[in-house]
Amino acid sequence: MELATTLKGQAVRNQVREIGINGNHWYAVAWATDLKPKKILPVTVWQQSIALFRDAQNQVQAVENVCPHKGVAMDKGQVKGDAIACAYHGWEFNGQGECVNIPYWNSEQKLPCAQLQTFAVQEKYGLIWIFPGDPLRVTRSDPLRVTQRDRSLADSTPLPDIPQYDDPNWLMIPINGHFKAHFTICNENTMDVFHGYLHKNLQGWFDPILLKLQETENSVKADYQVSYRGVMSKLLGLGKVGDCVTTQVISVDYRYPNYVNDLQGISSLYLMRLPIAPQESRSFAYMFLKVRLPKRLVNLLRPVLQPIISNLLFMPFLRQDIEMIESEQANYLKDPQRRYVEVNPAIIAVQRLMVRQYQTFANQQPSHVETPPQPEVMSR
Ligand code: FES
Ligand SMILES: [Fe+2]
Repeated sequence: MELATTLKGQAVRNQVREIGINGNHWYAVAWATDLKPKKILPVTVWQQSIALFRDAQNQVQAVENVCPHKGVAMDKGQVKGDAIACAYHGWEFNGQGECVNIPYWNSEQKLPCAQLQTFAVQEKYGLIWIFPGDPLRVTRSDPLRVTQRDRSLADSTPLPDIPQYDDPNWLMIPINGHFKAHFTICNENTMDVFHGYLHKNLQGWFDPILLKLQETENSVKADYQVSYRGVMSKLLGLGKVGDCVTTQVISVDYRYPNYVNDLQGISSLYLMRLPIAPQESRSFAYMFLKVRLPKRLVNLLRPVLQPIISNLLFMPFLRQDIEMIESEQANYLKDPQRRYVEVNPAIIAVQRLMVRQYQTFANQQPSHVETPPQPEVMSR
């Protein structure tokens, strides 16, 4: 569906700051290099704490970060071969979440039916991805009887495609973002090309015009015309002299829950959003820059260029964004009922998409939860 590219002004619906996620997507949760062998890495996907570890084959396993014995966090424990062992009594669980050893039981004793929930997990593109949505089959009347998630949705949902990842014609810059803000505020910032004003001292883009807006069930794509001058223009290979102005079209494509932004084959940004909590989000991004140097030279320079470009070029932009995003969040919390005015139809479309995705997911969740039997009240 193509949408109009002009809007007089629309009140931002407060509802959007209160929504959760659609769990039926793959979420990037960590850089793969941060999960070392024999270590446990705790991550959080929308208030669900998960412990990641590598088994003896170096395969990533993802289990809930709560021991089914007494509720201690599993990331306080250690990795033992294929299993994760809790720090408190040493109960060991394999990657399927089954209790496989209790160190103080003899081998004849039957192990209890205590099980950790597990999550579908993949390692690809230097990232670890979790699929949090598949329904868990739990019998609430018997809390020890936790069966595993139905993985059919995870199996049939593809990860985003990042074709430049292994392409030596592109220089890849990983960028890490951490925000004390709801993920919807962060996602609106990424779609909001009109905030080039904020970055004017960094010679960011200017004179943005929304050219085209397309919306589908799972995506919002906006094409903007933007202009660059000076260092940024030169760095992107757009201009020959330092102060010349170049006008380009940038497409910003929000494919829920991630972004793919493209500057006419000159640079691409893949931004993976991790909603952590109502006031905390992360982003794992790859900026790809087209390089016109010999491949061998690029390979040689890559370890040096990556941190330099990230720290000097992108982090100053990100720090300015974080300040705005966190200010927006803080003022929302002070007065959640206050209405703000949005004039960019692309932002309205992104809000609509995030609300719709959340509602779709919420409607799929079972409405009836089997309640555990109430304990009998002892009368004196
Ligand atoms: S609390 Fe984890 S083994 Fe006892
Ligand atoms: Fe920005």
